[in-house]
Amino acid sequence: MRITMIGTGYVGLVSGACFADFGHVVTCVDKDTSKIEKLNHGEIPIYEPGLERLVRNNVEAERLFFTTDSKAPIANADVVFIAVGTPSRRGDGHADLQYVYAVAEEIAACISGFTVIVTKSTVPVGTGDEIEAIIRKLRPDAEFEVVSNPEFLREGAAIKDFKIPDRIVVGTEDERAKEIMREVYRPLFLKESPIVFTSRRTSELIKYAGNAFLAVKITFINEMADLCEKVGANVQEVARGIGLDGRIGPKFLNAGPGYGGSCFPKDTKALSKTAQDYGAPVNIVDTVIRVNDARKKAMAHKIIAGLGGEVKGKRIAILGLAFKQNTDDMRDAPSLSILPILREAGADLIAFDPEAHHEAAKLLPGLALAETPWAAIEGADAMVIITEWDQFRALDLNRVKSSLKGRTVIDLRNIYRPEDMQKHGFDYISIGR
Ligand code: UGA
Repeated sequence: MRITMIGTGYVGLVSGACFADFGHVVTCVDKDTSKIEKLNHGEIPIYEPGLERLVRNNVEAERLFFTTDSKAPIANADVVFIAVGTPSRRGDGHADLQYVYAVAEEIAACISGFTVIVTKSTVPVGTGDEIEAIIRKLRPDAEFEVVSNPEFLREGAAIKDFKIPDRIVVGTEDERAKEIMREVYRPLFLKESPIVFTSRRTSELIKYAGNAFLAVKITFINEMADLCEKVGANVQEVARGIGLDGRIGPKFLNAGPGYGGSCFPKDTKALSKTAQDYGAPVNIVDTVIRVNDARKKAMAHKIIAGLGGEVKGKRIAILGLAFKQNTDDMRDAPSLSILPILREAGADLIAFDPEAHHEAAKLLPGLALAETPWAAIEGADAMVIITEWDQFRALDLNRVKSSLKGRTVIDLRNIYRPEDMQKHGFDYISIGR
């Protein structure tokens, strides 16, 4: 298959590289000249485990190409994927579709022969219809089918999620398009990954419903954690106790500082807007959005309380800034809600993250950044873990004890055991235990 991927952001780049690895010939197109130049020199603009090698191997095998010029790649493609961003529109929270529609016009100008046009970007219900109308208007002669094929990749585990998916969702009722999409994903059929064929609108909604459900699940366990703290129960045991029920399932029940990232916050808001527009409000999701926003800020007050109600002049070592481990992404990260409140209260912050310093310099200007976790901890009154990076999971606790000036450790990811921490003489505060 000749595949053209428009947009080399997170989704486009990972999907493009994985399709090339399946043996398809993939051209990734992006308007950002410096990004394409970097990619052509083997430089990967994001941190994602395994991606650099995957890109390099497929470029060397001449199956993966990068360019800024979309004309020939669109004209020659069997399948064109749209993988540009759909950020929250400023002011109203609707998904901003300007980039998607601009790509639809670009595609209309160039397609030739039967072409399947696939939305990988997360787009509200009805966007496929609009894309079809745009292309049809500009090119009444063109032979094409618009298909929805949402992605379910987690940052930090994206290649695994792509190659061993729980399911593939394809929204089209056209037999020719179905056949081509089957061919695109054939290597995964061989591994018996289930493929769900459905209508385009249903497929568009599946993506939002999936992310919203996971956001509900996380928020539910976060509220259980707060209740556990009040009643003297343990949230990890509650999660295990309910998660073993096959109807509930054990995943996405880790209590923490609230969900962040480039997807859940934006997609829950967009779903809520769509639901309001259609007069079928999603009250649970609306509540989850509100509770999660409040939770991230509440974490700052938990830290202040943990330090005796006063942080003015106190040095606090922050471990982890990214919204979760294995990514340099800080979009809607809990750290972005927590750190400004601590600063405002007069705390002297010094942070370490294995990958996110570049983003932190942009999003939290002036924040002191340490070269190692140890440099952050040395002489601090408290250590606060915000992101669950593996390298924070097994710190030498004796060394932490002797490096810290104070004894307070606040662990917003529950990566240490309360018994161990007490044994080492820390004042240890975690979530829901
Ligand atoms: C999420 C979905 O998991 C993917 O399936 C989806 O494709 C993607 O959004 C998307 O729409 O593009 P991602 O945002 O990369 O992926 O990260 P997750 O691993 O889902 O984590 C999201 C947030 O929830 C993080 O802040 C994480 O720390 C938090 N989380 C997750 C918890 O607090 N507890 C959990 O048990 C799980």
